[in-house]
Amino acid sequence: MSPVRPAAVICLAAGEGTRMRSELPKVLHAIGGRTLLGHAVAVTRAIDPVHLVVVVRHGRDAVAEHVSALDPTALLADQDEVAGTGRAVECGLQALPPELTGTVVVTMGDVPLLEAGTLQALVHAHQGSAVTLVTASLPDPHGYGRILRDPDGQVERVVEQRDADDEQAAINEINSGIYAFDVEVLRAALEQVGTDNAQGEKYLTDVVAIARRGGHRVGAHLVEDRWQTEGVNDRMQLAGLGGELNRRILLHWMQAGVTVVDPATTWVDVDVRLGRDVTLLPGTQLHGDTVVESGARIGPDTTLTDVRVDAGASVVRTHGSGARIGAGASVGPFAYLRPGTELHEAAKVGTFVETKNAELGPGAKVPHLSYIGDASIGEGSNIGAGTITANYDGATKSRTTVGRHCRTGSDNVFVAPVRLGDGAFTGAGTVVRTDVAPGALAVSGGRQRQVEDWVARKRPGSAADRAAGEAQMADGAQSGGTAAPNEEPHA
Ligand code: UD1
Ligand code: MG
Repeated sequence: MSPVRPAAVICLAAGEGTRMRSELPKVLHAIGGRTLLGHAVAVTRAIDPVHLVVVVRHGRDAVAEHVSALDPTALLADQDEVAGTGRAVECGLQALPPELTGTVVVTMGDVPLLEAGTLQALVHAHQGSAVTLVTASLPDPHGYGRILRDPDGQVERVVEQRDADDEQAAINEINSGIYAFDVEVLRAALEQVGTDNAQGEKYLTDVVAIARRGGHRVGAHLVEDRWQTEGVNDRMQLAGLGGELNRRILLHWMQAGVTVVDPATTWVDVDVRLGRDVTLLPGTQLHGDTVVESGARIGPDTTLTDVRVDAGASVVRTHGSGARIGAGASVGPFAYLRPGTELHEAAKVGTFVETKNAELGPGAKVPHLSYIGDASIGEGSNIGAGTITANYDGATKSRTTVGRHCRTGSDNVFVAPVRLGDGAFTGAGTVVRTDVAPGALAVSGGRQRQVEDWVARKRPGSAADRAAGEAQMADGAQSGGTAAPNEEPHA
């Protein structure tokens, strides 16, 4: 198929989307990590139109801003108070050069599963026609415009659900709302379209009958895959199309060599990239620009957004965003990686560990129950269980720097800003307030003090007292001493 470049695509996104019952304009709802409009705009890239026009009205500013973010070269056309898809296209044409000739493709901002190949095939099939509609044959065509064909099988006109009689309503072939038009025929026909219909709107679909009456060739391009032509009108369709999109994305990755243990509980956004022999365990959600390199294992029950996972890493029961996980690194179970986390090769973030703006050097480990924020941990260092970097004094955030091959004791607090030199150690329970020299041991807190028989005096008769008495007796027996048994409860 030789590529044919259309003069323009007009994407309709001005409708109200009443049935969504939402503060958000319908086309800004998302599936697969991309807005409905984002899907519609992305698919037009495949046919490389000279101009792309998006027609806006409802939620105008939010939609317009989103369009500029999606494609800064896209033109915006504001629809006026005249309602209907025909009027929307007319407004779209006004944004285009008046001398424009050739093919104009019309797409819908709320049809997210349309594929590039289908648009290419439409443009190709349209060669030599004035109007070509993308149609589909649905078991339940309710709600759609129906395709009426003449006895020769040629498309004659489209009748909307609300204007259809019973016989017309029984037709299964529907109008998808996606078309290719000869722009001159389209302009002229739209001038003749009125609003004399059940909805009092200017229907784009009336162009079909007008073109036929004018002796122009009207064709249909029937699409077998009905999902591609389905639009989102309510939240049920949003969920239905979202599920189907996900199913298709997973199929693509399985064909590319990814193991998806449980497709029913695995969700992968459109822009995520996965390497060969990646394994996704049940309950995994990969969002945004997440990239997982070959051989890595993700899940179960893991949500990653904009995370890069290098080859062979393992990420178990983890919630992560804006993080980088190096090759062969290990994360979780029960880890929380916040933005700015960077684990180098073979580093480890273990169980009940939260990290933020934290760099762990190659092989560095934070295995248990810790908060590591605004910190760098050098190569080969091990952070003791229950360590907190106190990075925030209520006004400013400060950094903790731990050198290479350090060993820090359990239950340490690093009061930032603070540095631990290479090869330094700290004792258990140390509050590190000042820098520690390379190779030094830091211990804080005084010597342990012991108050003998405190329990016997303060908690007489308690289980603790009895246990202590028994232990003292056993100790006495062992050492052959004469310590009196302490069996009687004290009064
Ligand atoms: C339309 C078609 C119908 C087709 C169906 C496919 C017409 C008259 N009917 O009906 O034949 O089967 O799509 O889904 O065209 N829009 C505007 N401005 C408007 C109205 C709509 O930009 O004034 C946009 C909407 O944002 C949406 C698209 O056009 O992206 C379709 O509008 P919608 O109201 O959903 O049309 P349907 O009644 O579904
Ligand atoms: Mg619709």
